[in-house]
Amino acid sequence: MSTAKPTPPRFDASFKEGFAELVRWRRDVRRFRRDPVAPELIEHLLALAAHAPSVGFCQPWRFVLVESAVRRAAVIENFRSANQAALAGYDGERRALYAGLKLEGLTQAPVHLAVCADEGAATGHRLGRATMPETLRYSVVAAIQTFWLAARAEGLGVGWVSILDPLAVCRQLELPSDWTLIAYLCVGWPEEEHDDPELERHGWEARLEQSVIEPLKR
Ligand SMILES: Cc1cc2nc3c(=O)[nH]c(=O)nc-3n(C[C@H](O)[C@H](O)[C@H](O)COP(=O)(O)O)c2cc1C
Repeated sequence: MSTAKPTPPRFDASFKEGFAELVRWRRDVRRFRRDPVAPELIEHLLALAAHAPSVGFCQPWRFVLVESAVRRAAVIENFRSANQAALAGYDGERRALYAGLKLEGLTQAPVHLAVCADEGAATGHRLGRATMPETLRYSVVAAIQTFWLAARAEGLGVGWVSILDPLAVCRQLELPSDWTLIAYLCVGWPEEEHDDPELERHGWEARLEQSVIEPLKR
């Protein structure tokens, strides 16, 4: 057995610049070309996502590729009714603005990925979860963010759809009873690329001033 340790990488200035660009150009994408994405590329991205941090190293993420046309149609219908209900919660100008937003790319995206938390995961031996059980789900979000950045580095777009009845999605996908839905992701080649959020471009919300995120000191 080899005892040689891998040499830690040094991230040079050009890598750091590239990484900052990646962060700035990662976007939530809802407009996809229909061209397929190679399954090996998705596998590669999922393998990277599995390097995300997780509470107690419990690795609770479960990725479900939704390929059946029938199941996809059920999720699209699920979105339509959830979105109608969400629209009903707004009035006046905000309602008109909401109605004009494109909030998913379910019909065009070549890849649908349901990302779940295995609430019954025995891995990690409950470390950290006794005090903050929600950290199990946070760990799945960490994997999603890793996937999102890795996908963008490959030129792929990712769109997070949360306007869904999550229990109905679990039923529609026949998921194990102790899995919860954390995200339903649309993945594919973007039709357009932007360095600003779609919700900002369409007047829904503005980016906060830098001063707002200055750390408070105690
Ligand atoms: C937890 C979560 C849920 C989201 N759900 C939706 C959604 O249902 N529909 C949508 O259009 N965007 C959704 N988004 C994307 C946000 O709208 C988007 O991240 C935000 O507007 C900022 O844009 P950006 O991701 O391009 O920077 C979601 C993002 C997060 C983190």
